[in-house]
Amino acid sequence: MNIRNFCIIAHIDHGKSTLADRLIEMTHTIEKRDMKKQILDTMDIEQERGITIKLQPIRMDYQYTGCDPRFQQGEKFMLNLIDTPGHVDFSYEVNRSLAACEGAILVVDATQGIQAQTLANCYMAIENNLEILPILNKIDLPGADVPARAKEIENLLSVKAENILSISAKEGTNVEKLLELIIEKFPEPKILNDEGETKGLIFDSIYDSYKGIVVYVRLFEGNLRAGDKCKFLHTKAEMEILEVGCFKPKYKKTDSLNAGEVGYVVTGLKTLEDARVGDTIWRSDSNNSFLRNETNESPKPISGYKKVTPYVFASIFCVEGSDYQFLREALSKLSLNDSALSFEPENSLALGHGFRCGFLGLLHMEIVQERLEREYDLNLIITAPSVSYKVIKSDGEEINISSPAELPDKNYYQAIKEPWVYTEIVTPKEYMGGIMALAQEKRGVSKSLKYINEDRVILEYEIPLANIVIDFYDKLKSVSSGYASMNYEILDFREGDLVKIDILIADEKIDALSMIVHRSDAERIGRDMCKRLKDIVPRANFTIAIQAIIGGKVVARETVSAFRKDVIAKLYGGDVTRKNKLLEKQKKGKKRMKSVGKINLPQEAFLAVLKRE
Ligand code: GTP
Repeated sequence: MNIRNFCIIAHIDHGKSTLADRLIEMTHTIEKRDMKKQILDTMDIEQERGITIKLQPIRMDYQYTGCDPRFQQGEKFMLNLIDTPGHVDFSYEVNRSLAACEGAILVVDATQGIQAQTLANCYMAIENNLEILPILNKIDLPGADVPARAKEIENLLSVKAENILSISAKEGTNVEKLLELIIEKFPEPKILNDEGETKGLIFDSIYDSYKGIVVYVRLFEGNLRAGDKCKFLHTKAEMEILEVGCFKPKYKKTDSLNAGEVGYVVTGLKTLEDARVGDTIWRSDSNNSFLRNETNESPKPISGYKKVTPYVFASIFCVEGSDYQFLREALSKLSLNDSALSFEPENSLALGHGFRCGFLGLLHMEIVQERLEREYDLNLIITAPSVSYKVIKSDGEEINISSPAELPDKNYYQAIKEPWVYTEIVTPKEYMGGIMALAQEKRGVSKSLKYINEDRVILEYEIPLANIVIDFYDKLKSVSSGYASMNYEILDFREGDLVKIDILIADEKIDALSMIVHRSDAERIGRDMCKRLKDIVPRANFTIAIQAIIGGKVVARETVSAFRKDVIAKLYGGDVTRKNKLLEKQKKGKKRMKSVGKINLPQEAFLAVLKRE
């Protein structure tokens, strides 16, 4: 079958999207005049930040130019490529892309070599039984050290260094050769063989304002056309397909989608919950009974993905309480496209109705907030992130809590367990000392130290997730002058000597600012939070006390002295336009304020914890 389904995986910024651009150009999928940089980064945020957040498929037509005798010169192939994100927070996108492909191009920056996410992606591809084609990129840069980097890959993947292709995705060097290798090295699509059935794996879904619910499918057998009556095997939703097509990278309608292909299906479904990533789309031809198979056995779904469990939680509130319903709808639509996002209604004493949302990490949280605000025009307040905990209550019952505010009173629980992660840090060896000190400060337990080559090492640690989430990555970058990279995955929950810090502002407990921290750090963090909040809490016409409380005891206190800010006081005469302008400006400044009791708290107050020392 002349189809190759493959994805491009790499550490962040090693050049996946740029390579995809070159492949698209060289296969004339998009005319040069219509090309723009990183064309598969279709979202505005992706283009502005220069990072890939979402997987993005594209179909290309290619005529073979190589000299492998198994193929003819000029033989036509359909290439389905999926570009994936490189940041650890979005590795779920990579995981799903891998399940739709038979091959993976592993891009390694020849100036930087193997990084933490290179390893993680590589393990994932191996787990999914994919053929891996490693390549070195950026050979046009003076810092590229091809022999040394190729040797690293040889050690990792047992591919001979001399067989590793070196390319410049930017300049197009050797990309033609890469196209030939894609045909020669990657296997044909796997096809299942259940008589008269059609089965496809849903690897992504999106709510499109024109087409409604659209699912991205990798078809493993049979075919799909508009008008076909199908079923999702997990959610049991039934539908009549409105349209099928492929990605160019925009939707391009086709007559049918066939076994082995990657494409999209416009479902016509109305309920967002009906279309879930990982589900199997199914149709049976037997006896015209489209929704049942003849033998009455339930059809077997294609093995999907593990459900992702978010371990980082934060609450989202609307600045305008009346936007609450819009926020609910926006979260539902967004979670269709971002299956790693979870949300549940929450009622905060201080902030009112909102949602407790689960994320895969801080960048994921930041992107969700930005997408909600941009794509759904909402003005939001997001609270400081916290990890989830397991609490053993006095009667022995174990409960999960996703917010410090949910921690029962001290007399009602015996122990708190927190999530620990296994982390791999890749670094030049001269920064090892600084990194070890940092890991120790974060309660890390050293597990092993491996050399990639004589200059670079992989440090393995077990660390509480809470200590990674807050500022570990920034500190790692600073102690290694930006050269270290890290990756982590959740291990288990372990009991810790943890306490809750409550923050009172103007005598009001702000539940959204409560934190659970290790006892040894608690007083220092409490003092630090009060100091930070003092600089953030706007003055009012009364004195505001800021207090940190642990176990009923005040451990820190700061005061914000009274002040009445009158922006028009300095104006004389009746310059109404200027006065209105100033008032307007002041109003805008207040936009991201949430009124809590007698005072207004700005967004920064809720994120003060992130900036702690
Ligand atoms: P994420 O999707 O965010 O993980 O990044 P990516 O792997 O898609 O990397 P991207 O293609 O965005 O490239 C990152 C940076 O490297 C961009 O500034 C590119 O212009 C640059 N770059 C990519 N390939 C090359 C290359 O071959 N040579 C040079 N000099 N720069 C390159």
